[in-house]
Amino acid sequence: MSSWGKRADMLEHESDPYNAEPPLAALAGQPVTATDTFYSRNHGPVPDIDPDAWRLVVDGLVHTPLELSLADLAARFAERTLSATLQCAGNRRSGLIAVRDIPGEDPWQGGATSTATWTGVRLGDVLTAAGLAGGAAQVCFAAPDVSSLADPPQPYGGSVPVAKATSAEVLLAWAMNGQPLARVHGAPLRVVVPGWIGARSVKWLTRITVTTQPSDNYFQATAYRLLPPDADPDSAGPGDWLSLGPVALNCEVLSPCDGQRVAPGPTTITGYAYAGEDRAVARVDVSPDAGATWMQAHLDAPDGPWTWQHWRLDADLPLGAVQILARAWDTTGALQPEHAADLWNPKGYVNNSWACARLTVGAGPT
Ligand code: MTE
Repeated sequence: MSSWGKRADMLEHESDPYNAEPPLAALAGQPVTATDTFYSRNHGPVPDIDPDAWRLVVDGLVHTPLELSLADLAARFAERTLSATLQCAGNRRSGLIAVRDIPGEDPWQGGATSTATWTGVRLGDVLTAAGLAGGAAQVCFAAPDVSSLADPPQPYGGSVPVAKATSAEVLLAWAMNGQPLARVHGAPLRVVVPGWIGARSVKWLTRITVTTQPSDNYFQATAYRLLPPDADPDSAGPGDWLSLGPVALNCEVLSPCDGQRVAPGPTTITGYAYAGEDRAVARVDVSPDAGATWMQAHLDAPDGPWTWQHWRLDADLPLGAVQILARAWDTTGALQPEHAADLWNPKGYVNNSWACARLTVGAGPT
């Protein structure tokens, strides 16, 4: 085991704040990710919150402000469980860094995404109990972990529009994969916003404030924004450019892995594909020969409407250096863009270019 109860082979980008992803092979064939394998993304120190003393405040544009303990949440609202994939906006950033360096940002590979079953109550039920008042447009989340990466340093926060916050899939979760939420994943309570970038699934939630405007927290107003390639990230201010919300269509090859040597003969190529919000994955094409020919992969059924889908294709790989490509289509007919170079942006978000694994096929140790 490495830090925070994670498996020993996690790729740890930083220990403080803790930022780590599993090796891609560990995600292969696992529709639900074991908690010790689930990636973790943190902007500050992981808080240690006494669950008995912890309270959730609900205020702002509501008729009845609330202050709720964990026991209150469990007693007053129906318990819900659903499977949902979380995906960091920085997932697959390493592909953008290969195009041009992105100083100060971790080189996440394709493992900054994972799927768990989450248990808690619907955020919408809590908001109904508080009663949304006139002008309610945004639901802001506040947490106590202070990030020195923010300018100025401040606790983490974010927001989603009321329409998303009141959707049935958005949970306030106290359990993950049937166990009490681990500290590193937000204990005692976190938001889970399926279909949206992981940044909006605020951990260690202490306050929900209903407002007319999106949160002015640094991680909503300034970070997690898609800047054009020529923008200076240091001078981009609050509200500039595109605030990221729903997750873009994406896919990754999980096995065999990039850099691996495989024996000649039939090989099963597997991976994940995911489309956020109201889109689903319609098709995954796989090329075993660097794009000369394409075949359609078998798509496994998702573990519900809010999860990734795993895919597989059996192929006979030619001897020598082999480049496997994968690309997904979604239910709007959109196809992933081919080149990371077209997607490069100064903070390194949303690399959803075609996935690629370079293999050596031949005899010898695999
Ligand atoms: N919530 C708080 N309070 N602090 C954080 O640093 N990171 C966000 C989100 N919620 C973060 C947070 C980001 S960017 C992601 S991708 C997810 O948590 C990661 O959740 P995980 O660590 O449980 O995988």
